[in-house]
Amino acid sequence: MSERPGADEGAPRVLFPAGELRAAVARLGREISDAYGDGLVLAAVLKGSVPFLADLLRSLTIAAEVDFLAISPYAPGTGRVRLLKDLGTDIAGRHVILVEDIVDTGLTAGYLLGELERRRPASLAACTLLDRAGRRIVPTPLRFVGFTVGDEYVVGYGLDFQERYRNLEAVVAIDEAALRRGATARLDELVSR
Ligand code: PRP
Repeated sequence: MSERPGADEGAPRVLFPAGELRAAVARLGREISDAYGDGLVLAAVLKGSVPFLADLLRSLTIAAEVDFLAISPYAPGTGRVRLLKDLGTDIAGRHVILVEDIVDTGLTAGYLLGELERRRPASLAACTLLDRAGRRIVPTPLRFVGFTVGDEYVVGYGLDFQERYRNLEAVVAIDEAALRRGATARLDELVSR
């Protein structure tokens, strides 16, 4: 009765709670460890992949190096991106996995896979926690996938809204338009819990 109208605006819906994320990361860790007995380089894309990378790394039972890449946001309509931070590792002859939190249009992963392939790694594959396959523009081969997601806007476990909410322990779906209208109270509540 006392609920004010619109109090539920911006209410988050937990898509993947921490336990499910842990289980998915453990499965991916097993799959990767089984496939890369000789060790590998995890090339993670900043910044969203950081929590996933940290957990994935700890789930591996093989030798694993870590390095980072960052690209500029692609210019709308052009799909053009720029490498802002490059790997420090020479990946020629190495087994490499590109690590993403989410692959959406595939522009980011597609560009980076092309860039890394030119450096002649022994092998190159992609691993993503979330695959938003329905939005793909660039066909992107993903060897290791945590979950497939639909069109919903997601934050948490690395994924942000205006640089916030990366520290949520779950992945939650949220109404992006409501967030943009400033209805962040319900998400803020989740962060402080
Ligand atoms: C996100 C995500 C991927 C990319 C996926 O990064 O981490 O890198 O978008 O989208 P795409 O498949 O359409 O290219 P974002 O630009 O939000 O940067 P961030 O990781 O620093 O938050």
